[in-house]
Amino acid sequence: MQATAKAHTNIALIKYWGKRDEALILPTNNSLSLTLDGFYTKTTVIFKEELEEDIFSLDDELISGEQYRRVTVFLDLIREYAGKPNLYAEINSMNEVPTAAGFASSASGFAALAAAATKALGLTLTEHELSRLTRQGSGSACRSVYGGFAEWQKGMQNDGTDSYAVPIAPQDHWDIRVAAVVLDAKMKKVSSREGMKRTVDTSAFFKGWVDSIPHDLDLIKDGIENRNFEKVGQVAEANCLKMHATTLGAVPPFTYWHDSTMAVMQTVQAMRENGIPAYFTIDAGPNVKVLYLPEHEEKVQETLRNISGVTDVILSRSGQGVTYL
Ligand code: PMV
Repeated sequence: MQATAKAHTNIALIKYWGKRDEALILPTNNSLSLTLDGFYTKTTVIFKEELEEDIFSLDDELISGEQYRRVTVFLDLIREYAGKPNLYAEINSMNEVPTAAGFASSASGFAALAAAATKALGLTLTEHELSRLTRQGSGSACRSVYGGFAEWQKGMQNDGTDSYAVPIAPQDHWDIRVAAVVLDAKMKKVSSREGMKRTVDTSAFFKGWVDSIPHDLDLIKDGIENRNFEKVGQVAEANCLKMHATTLGAVPPFTYWHDSTMAVMQTVQAMRENGIPAYFTIDAGPNVKVLYLPEHEEKVQETLRNISGVTDVILSRSGQGVTYL
């Protein structure tokens, strides 16, 4: 009744932004991501008859409060599915996702937890089933089941049975790279959960966002299939800008951008004018991720490091899906 799994985080090139069901975590639009090898979570789950509640430690620290609650509520789903509602576990997670890099460590965290817990209980799930389960821990995590590029299909059913990620292209399809640009920006954070809700409920631009997704997906999937970097980069950057525009149309309006966020965006655009193909994308925070190809790694890294307000640049390649150790 013990298993260890490893899952990597992912960066969305077509963003998940908006829920149609908050409890089941069902999105208003499909999204598409690249799994990253540089950032992962390794989780061991041990179910023990003698435990009266779950025990969760993260990076060797005992966790309580909201983070603990999210983990146990998620394990309840798995216990119920396995027909063992009163069997509790010891969960040990190690995060290789520097929080400062601004990646949602919940993506790798919930994917690793879902994989380890189901395996420990002897459940055999297909990748679709694992992705659907993982979605209920954290939406974007359902894409981390797969390596390379994955698409989260929003689904049509009210119970979420058809809302899970599917593989688009494997890890070795294309050596495309991502630089995570860490900024010294300190801002009051609007969580992705709160930001999405406010946008769905109030943003004048939300309908335009949702309506534009199918076309973006068609373009980017064609770009990925043909390894057309300009096409993928242009669509990803534009999609990110549209997502962030919806926050400016919300009531009250908000933005995740800091002045150093803008500085990185402008530098990336200037790199392109100087013949270096690079494109940015930004999640629900101030940090920027920059897409580039291996032959430009040195120049891209050096340019990003020289921007004022940049404290670190962490490079990553395409990563693998969930593995069991
Ligand atoms: O799954 P969450 O709650 O971490 O939301 C992720 C939202 C974005 O990172 C902004 C976009 C995405 O698709 O990952």
